[in-house]
Amino acid sequence: MTKAVIASRKPFLVELQAGRAYSWCACGRSARQPFCDGSHAGTGIEPVRFKSDADGEAVLCGCKRTGRVPFCDGAHNALVEKYEEAGADEIQASASIQVTPRSGGSTGKSLLDGGCYVCTIDPESMPRRGNVRLGPVINAGDGARSLSQWFMLVEPGESDALGFPGSEVVLFLPAGELELTISGRAFHVGPETGVFVASGEAFRVANRGAASLRLLFTVCPQCPEPVWTNAMPDNFDSAIPARAFGVDPSKREPMADRFYQVLNGEENGSREVTQFIGEVPRSRAAAHRHLYEEAIMILTGEGFMWTEAARAAVQPGDIIFLPRKQIHSLECTSAAGMRLMGAFYPSGSPAVNY
Ligand code: FES
Repeated sequence: MTKAVIASRKPFLVELQAGRAYSWCACGRSARQPFCDGSHAGTGIEPVRFKSDADGEAVLCGCKRTGRVPFCDGAHNALVEKYEEAGADEIQASASIQVTPRSGGSTGKSLLDGGCYVCTIDPESMPRRGNVRLGPVINAGDGARSLSQWFMLVEPGESDALGFPGSEVVLFLPAGELELTISGRAFHVGPETGVFVASGEAFRVANRGAASLRLLFTVCPQCPEPVWTNAMPDNFDSAIPARAFGVDPSKREPMADRFYQVLNGEENGSREVTQFIGEVPRSRAAAHRHLYEEAIMILTGEGFMWTEAARAAVQPGDIIFLPRKQIHSLECTSAAGMRLMGAFYPSGSPAVNY
């Protein structure tokens, strides 16, 4: 059988209609990509017929190497040694774009195009409850449609229990150690660890050290306010026993010269959000889009977040809100590279872009 040829090193964004049948080109020879035009005749490769369950956009594979036929799964990134970087034209066209300063006020946002922004968290501006300060850094009022993100400063001691009714919560501890109790079940959480809290569960955090800790919650569907309680419910979902996932080199997925590791996703309980850690070398990615809405925290390294006509400086601890389909590019200017945590809805692979 002839091998499929690479029709495109990027996927195709298409609009699908519910119930309609499609034939995805598997041989790579069709002139009507990503769909079949009959050019597979004689190759021994058949098109893949599928029906869409719903109306909506989808990202279909163009490289014909996907493991999730007919959808892109990011396999196209393995066809090159270097992740696609901004070309000379893109760099020249944006050379005069000035860095957008942070606004005044407690959020300290740099507003970019399409509702994208970068903000520097100011815990002192957030309301206190016992040993914690808690406030939203991404919410409906910021233009987010599906997820919200909350920041908690945890001083030594134990917090009251809280939950986000009707929402799944994915926590992230960038550094330090804490004890987390989820609906009566205790977990030890180390640095760069993501933790999943199922819908309906509550949690409390205990900081046994001397220094304050920073904690991020990605909440989906977004929830305007948490609900606090003194009584921890006893409704831990034991169908999902493992909850805390840290850095594991054996789970690193290459994306050309970049890496990512999914911490939480469909495989371990989270139906709404995929949470990952990524590593970016000194580079500026070519402008691209995702079909998902994303919240990013910079862990190490510095650089810029670019949109069409704006850019903002980013440094460790900063949060980036990236609306669905917003064209963007993240530039790392640090010689040692950049590490980041991303959380996005709907869940999937962080390697899928177009
Ligand atoms: S285009 Fe083939 S996997 Fe993305």
